[in-house]
Parts: sequence; structure tokens; C-alpha cells
Amino acid sequence: MIDIIGIPGSLRADSLNRKLLELSDQLIGDRARIEIAGLLPLPMYNPDDEARETPRPVVELKQKIEAADGLLISLPVYYVSMPGVLKNAIDWICRTPEPVRGTSVLAGKPISVIVGAGGLGATETGNHLMGILSVLDADLDNEAALEFVRLPERVDESGHLAVEEDRGLLKRFIERLVDRIDEAASG
Ligand SMILES: Cc1cc2nc3c(=O)[nH]c(=O)nc-3n(C[C@H](O)[C@H](O)[C@H](O)COP(=O)(O)O)c2cc1C
Repeated sequence: MIDIIGIPGSLRADSLNRKLLELSDQLIGDRARIEIAGLLPLPMYNPDDEARETPRPVVELKQKIEAADGLLISLPVYYVSMPGVLKNAIDWICRTPEPVRGTSVLAGKPISVIVGAGGLGATETGNHLMGILSVLDADLDNEAALEFVRLPERVDESGHLAVEEDRGLLKRFIERLVDRIDEAASG
């Protein structure tokens, strides 16, 4: 089975972006497993700490990503940009420990991005993140990030997407990631 690591770009316990990842796991069924890796255990990136010893939670996250077939990131927009916790995670995990072009843990890794936000800056945020992932040589789709703007209005009381059309959109988006992973595996 295909293994995907799902990274929510929000630390909130009831994060709607985390719920989008949970729902993605349900929607993709037996074709893939999406294991969520939360960013709460990561300390703030500090080159001094890195020079001493890479912190255990960072090593563990890198190992999970290395072992996975692909990555699905679902992030909110914070002030028309990506949340600091996600940028912090990227800062940590892409060092090897030195930044050498083409050797980051994300190099060649199929990645898809979902932006689950209020309404302002979703496209810019998705593009910004994809720009960073591209510099890190991730394997990105030609299609833009999937956006769910006004996300809080599109979920039921349990926080999951309430509208069937939205669930269909999400399902097709995840299927596309799994197809890309299949294609990459078959050469
Ligand atoms: C500090 C902060 C800044 C935000 N800034 C924006 C913003 O610029 N544009 C936007 O569309 N939503 C903004 N939001 C709303 C969140 O993106 C939105 O509520 C999102 O669904 C929260 O994701 P979560 O449920 O995964 O935590 C902001 C929320 C917070 C807490």
C-alpha cells in the first residue's frame, strides 16, 4: 500500500486542516494510507542547536518523510502567508545538515498542497509554499494547490467537509497524488 505522510500546518487540536487530512485518508480507501505527522513536538529552528545535535523530533519527522511515498500538506493562511510552524518545520527538515542542492529530504518526493483558509491570500500562500518546495526539488503537480476558502463555513459540527461536491474535489485531488506516486514508481 502507498504510504503518505500528512502534515497539518496548524497546531490547533481541532484544526480543520488536520481534519482535511483525516478525511483524505478515508476518501482514498485502500489505495493509500495517510499518516498524520503533527508539528507540535518540533522546537524552533536554531542553527546553534542543529550544530550540536539535530533534535529527536526533527530526526523522527525526517525519517517518516524519507520512508513515505509522498507528502500531503494542508495548511491554513495566517496573515496572507503560511503559518510559522510549517516554515519552521521546512527549515529543520531540509538541512542534511548542510543545504546541498538536490539532497533535501523533499527532493524527488511527490507532494500535494491543500490550503484551508478563511478567504484572504489562499492562492498567494499556496503559490508561496509551492515556490519553496520547488527550490527544494520536490516533485510537484502542475496543478495549483487545492483551495478551500471560507473553510469554517464548509464543514459540519464535527469539522469535516459538509458539501458532497467538496468531498468529491478532495477525493479527486488525493487520487491524483496517488496516481503520480504510482507513475513515479513504475518509472
Ligand atoms: C493568526 C491568524 C491569521 C489568519 N490570517 C488569515 C488570512 O490572512 N487569510 C485567511 O483567509 N484566513 C486567515 N486566518 C483564518 C484561518 O486561515 C482559518 O480559520 C483556517 O481555517 C484555520 O485553520 P485550522 O482550523 O487548521 O487551524 C487566520 C487565522 C489566524 C489564527
